[in-house]
Parts: sequence; structure tokens; C-alpha cells
Amino acid sequence: MKNSKITHKITQGVYTLTTQKGGCIVDAVARVGNRHDAPLIAVSVAKTNHSHQLLAESNRFALSVLSQKVDPEIIQVFGFNCSKDCDKLAQVKHHEEGAVPVLDDTLGYMVMEKVDAIDAGTHTIYIGKMIEGDVLDDGEPMSYAYYQEHKDDLVKTTTENKETAWVCMACGYVYYGAEVPEDYKCPVCGLGKKNFKLKDS
Ligand SMILES: Cc1cc2nc3c(=O)[nH]c(=O)nc-3n(C[C@H](O)[C@H](O)[C@H](O)COP(=O)(O)O)c2cc1C
Repeated sequence: MKNSKITHKITQGVYTLTTQKGGCIVDAVARVGNRHDAPLIAVSVAKTNHSHQLLAESNRFALSVLSQKVDPEIIQVFGFNCSKDCDKLAQVKHHEEGAVPVLDDTLGYMVMEKVDAIDAGTHTIYIGKMIEGDVLDDGEPMSYAYYQEHKDDLVKTTTENKETAWVCMACGYVYYGAEVPEDYKCPVCGLGKKNFKLKDS
């Protein structure tokens, strides 16, 4: 492949995906049609993410649109931690809409009823019919390209206990630990150890 970074130019946004028990940051989101006037939205979730299981077990999920001015803590909590290990929702301001938690510090939310799940190998593409939605703020949505350009500011690369941070050069995912394991695969883009560079901070 000559340069996979061309995928950074695909116009797509950055969202929090939430279910009752947690969720994660997603960018693989698309409006794929209308069903009886209700928008159909698809979201692709990696099977290695705990959110995949949460979504498999839920009838409903929500997507909240992040703004360019979002508190980076939201990206850190939802994009670089696992819902299995921590209560992500307890760390951010949120409220319930249509029986699904949605984040307060966003441009708005879409609450979806799950209508289909398509197996795409490493990922499942969940499709939802929008049953509720609202605009909370008219700020500028964060695009994936914006995230890529600003990820150094949006992603904290040192922890309070000074663990070493390794940054995936393709997507900005940060692995914390003395060494990236030989067989490690980035949970966001799937690339291996040689793609991670030591963060000098
Ligand atoms: C900007 C950004 C975009 C991401 N996009 C996706 C995505 O589209 N699908 C996905 O499954 N994970 C995506 N991730 C990765 C998950 O958010 C991340 O692996 C998270 O820690 C999973 O948490 P969980 O185990 O609680 O589900 C993205 C992360 C970031 C920072």
C-alpha cells in the first residue's frame, strides 16, 4: 500500500457510542437511508472492543456528535479505556434519552433502535433506526481529519503514574506500557507493533 493515510480524508465525524453499560469513541458512522421517514444509521464496531458485546446485548444505542471544542477527557475516557475495566459513564456528565445515556458535552445525540447487525469479519456493522434526536449546541462538529490533525492536543500521552506512552502513527491510538507486545494489534486500525512510536513528552 502506498499511503493508507488517504483514508484520513474520508469525510466522517467523531462520536461517542453509548449503551446502558458503557461505550466507546467511533468514527465509522454513516447515515445509510431512511426507513418510514426515520434515518437509518450504521456504526462499525470492532469485535475486540467491549462495546461490541454491549451492543450485541442491547436493543438500543446512542451516538453523540463531538465538537471540535470537546473536552479531551471524553476522548481519553471513551477512546482509550475499556468499559469492562472502568465505569466510563460515571466519569462524564450525561443524562438519559429514550432509556439510553447520552453525553451532555456534545453537539447533540441520536438514539437508535437496533434493526440489523452485519458480520464484517473483524467488525460488526450495527444498523439502527433513529427514534429520538436533538441538537444541543451549534458548534463545529469534529471531523476525523480534524482529530488526526489535532490528536497530539486531544490525546493525553502521559498518565499520572508516568507510564510510557506509545502512539500509533496511523491513527493516534496510545498504548501504555514499558514495551508494545510483539503480537499487539492496534484496536483502532489493526496495525502492529512496528507502527507504534515512543511518545517523547
Ligand atoms: C478517533 C477514534 C475513532 C475510533 N473509531 C472507532 C470505530 O469506528 N469503531 C470501533 O470499534 N472503535 C473505534 N475506536 C476505538 C475505541 O473507541 C477504543 O478501542 C475504546 O477504548 C473501546 O472501548 P470499549 O472496550 O469500552 O468498547 C476509535 C477511537 C478513536 C480515538
